[in-house]
Amino acid sequence: MDLAALRARLEAILGPDHVITDPAVRASYEVDWTRRYRGESTFVLRPAATDQVSAVLAACGEAGLPVVPQGGNTGLVGGSIPRAGEAVLSLRRLDAIEDLDPIAGEVTAGAGVTLAALQQAARAAGWDFGVDLASRDSATIGGMIATNAGGVRVLRYGPMRHQLIGIEAVLADGRVIRRLPGLLKDNSGYDLPGLFAGSEGTLAVITRARLRLIPPRPSRAVALLGLASLADALRVLRDLRADVPSLEAAEVFFPEGLQLVLDHTGLPAPFSRAHGCYLLVEAAARDDPVPALAAALESRIDPAHALLAADRPSRDRLWAYRERHTEAISAAGIPHKLDVTLPLARLPEFEGAVRRRLAEVAPAARPILFGHAGDGNLHVNILGPAPDDDAPDAAVLELVASLGGSISAEHGIGIAKKPYLNLTRAPADISAMRAIKQALDPWGMLNPGVIF
Ligand code: FAD
Ligand code: MLT
Ligand code: ZN
Repeated sequence: MDLAALRARLEAILGPDHVITDPAVRASYEVDWTRRYRGESTFVLRPAATDQVSAVLAACGEAGLPVVPQGGNTGLVGGSIPRAGEAVLSLRRLDAIEDLDPIAGEVTAGAGVTLAALQQAARAAGWDFGVDLASRDSATIGGMIATNAGGVRVLRYGPMRHQLIGIEAVLADGRVIRRLPGLLKDNSGYDLPGLFAGSEGTLAVITRARLRLIPPRPSRAVALLGLASLADALRVLRDLRADVPSLEAAEVFFPEGLQLVLDHTGLPAPFSRAHGCYLLVEAAARDDPVPALAAALESRIDPAHALLAADRPSRDRLWAYRERHTEAISAAGIPHKLDVTLPLARLPEFEGAVRRRLAEVAPAARPILFGHAGDGNLHVNILGPAPDDDAPDAAVLELVASLGGSISAEHGIGIAKKPYLNLTRAPADISAMRAIKQALDPWGMLNPGVIF
């Protein structure tokens, strides 16, 4: 490969300031959020428009240099990091928010728009967005579509794929697919936006998306409940789902995670005594959801073990116990992050079994569990084992498969879960996925080594 010629061509497309070779500037693009995955890139490329993305992919394709698309670099499976000198294609400069239609409740967002910026624009126009994540200040719309991000509102609004009305994306050879502004009803052939959602940068580079907005639900109530066990938490949740139709989030965590959060943040303990499991729920509606939530809780839980918050600062204080798990865990070490779903009825069985299994295979490991209870999605974080010791990961994911679950609920496969894909996807599934990859990216230019 003639790197000097490629560099000159890329500089002509992007301008020299946006073809980065300086190792000090490249460094933050070359390590993932967890610090478990690192690599080196030949260039970091920073296009600002779709035609630049297209020209860059054509140039890299002709030179034989693969690219790793990157948004906010908050992904948790190592998929946004170069592995073998690929170019990092940072989409963050594609940050325009356009064509917000206040009547239809739709907006077009560039791939580099952060979730927080989108939320702000939607709210200013009297709407809201259905997906919310703790990484909202950095995670981008492109990355969130590419990972089919879930977050804390899947219970009510579904993951990122469900918000997608249309897409603009650049194929490996530079051709542009443009399904914008997108039609709510469009059955004219295969659903390409849906296919690109969750494709983790392996099928196309997403440049813009037409997104559905949701009506605002400004009145909110949050409750934090201390319970004896996950089984108890799921029983309470089942009743709340029936009695409180405005329920929007249902999250769980356990004493070991809470302690890490308290140590890391200096927050006071929420209750005067420890509980076996904590359930955090949020209800949101046009009218005040507090009376309905309070009434539903009254008959089901001792008031000494329940905290209810209605105003914004009090709600944020309760959410902090859950949302700050990720940073508290990373402050304590480099975690192995597993993100699994189980059939809801088997979640308590899994919780017990995974703790026992980890005690067998990695006795010194510290498991920290938390997650999205309403979705059957637990995040199994393991502190202690060396970053390259995969034995605990294998043990957990084999257990998940044996209980009928999935090895990735919302973070994707990336490179972290690649060796385990066959645990929960059948050979026919994998060969169909490989055929799609081969058809759209025959030379393996887009995020090679991710998923397969
Ligand atoms: P990146 O990390 O940059 O990339 C992720 C993947 O998408 C990579 O494979 C990359 O190649 C690909 N990609 C990025 N942009 C594009 C593009 N424009 N076109 C094609 N491919 C692209 N995730 C959840 O699902 N739910 C949560 O609740 C959640 N909470 C989090 C909380 C914290 C504190 C942190 C740090 C992370 C959390 N995440 C969560 C994980 C992460 O934020 C999401 O996976 C998010 O969708 C990644 O977006 P990003 O822009 O950072 O993508
Ligand atoms: C969360 O739910 O907080 C995220 O998915 C992040 C994580 O798993 O650490
Ligand atoms: Zn999550």
